[in-house]
Amino acid sequence: MTGDLFAGLARDPSVERITEGALLLRAFVSEEEAAQLMAGIETVLAASPLRHMQTPGGFRMSVAMSNCGRFGWVTDRRGYRYQSLDPLAERDWPPMPDAFMALAVRAAETAGFAGFDPDACLVNRYDPGARMSLHQDKNEQDMAQPIVSVSLGLPATFLFGGMARTDKPQRMRLESGDVVVWGGAARLAFHGIDTLRDGEHALTGRCRYNLTFRRAR
Ligand code: SIN
Ligand code: FE2
Repeated sequence: MTGDLFAGLARDPSVERITEGALLLRAFVSEEEAAQLMAGIETVLAASPLRHMQTPGGFRMSVAMSNCGRFGWVTDRRGYRYQSLDPLAERDWPPMPDAFMALAVRAAETAGFAGFDPDACLVNRYDPGARMSLHQDKNEQDMAQPIVSVSLGLPATFLFGGMARTDKPQRMRLESGDVVVWGGAARLAFHGIDTLRDGEHALTGRCRYNLTFRRAR
C-alpha cells in the first residue's frame, strides 16, 4: 500500500471496437504525452488563435477552432475546405509539433493503419455548452487514410453513427487521453459531440480540447 491518493485515478489502456474500421483506444495518451500535447497546443494557438468560424449557412460554430500542419480546415460563407493560409493570422498555419505527429502515427498504427501521414490537424476547444452536430469528415482527398481524434481535458459524449445521417449513433464517453481512430469501412461514418457539461479538469481547466489528424491532400 503506497497510500497514493492519485494511484486509483490512473486508467489502464484498453482497446474497444466501435464498429468495423473504428476503434476507441482508451487511456492511450500517457501523462507525459498529454503535457507535451498541451505545450504544443499553446505554441500553435500563440501563432494561430482560436476562433469561432461561420458555417456556410451563416451560423457561428460553438466550438472554437484553429489548425496546425500544412493544411487547415476552415469554414465560412463560401463553404468548407482545407487551405494552407490561416485567414485570421493571414499567414500559413503553424507546423505540427513533433509530439502531435508521433502520437497520431502511433495511434493509427495501433488501430491497424500503418503509414498514416497526416498533413492537417484541427484543434477544437469545447467550452461548457459547446457541441458538434453529426457530420462526416469528407473534405479530404485521400479516403484511404484514417481519422485520428485525441481527447484532452473535460469528458465528452461522442456520437458515432453509420453511413446515413439517420442511423442511430452509439454514444460513448471520451475521457482525457482517449483516442478514436476510424478508417476503412468506417471512414465516412457520421459522428459528433454532445453538449459539453460544465466541469473542471487538472490538465485543461474548464474545457475540452480535441485534436483531429487527417490527410487532407
Ligand atoms: C470532429 O469531429 O472534428 C471533432 C470530434 C471531437 O471533438 O471529438
Ligand atoms: Fe469530424
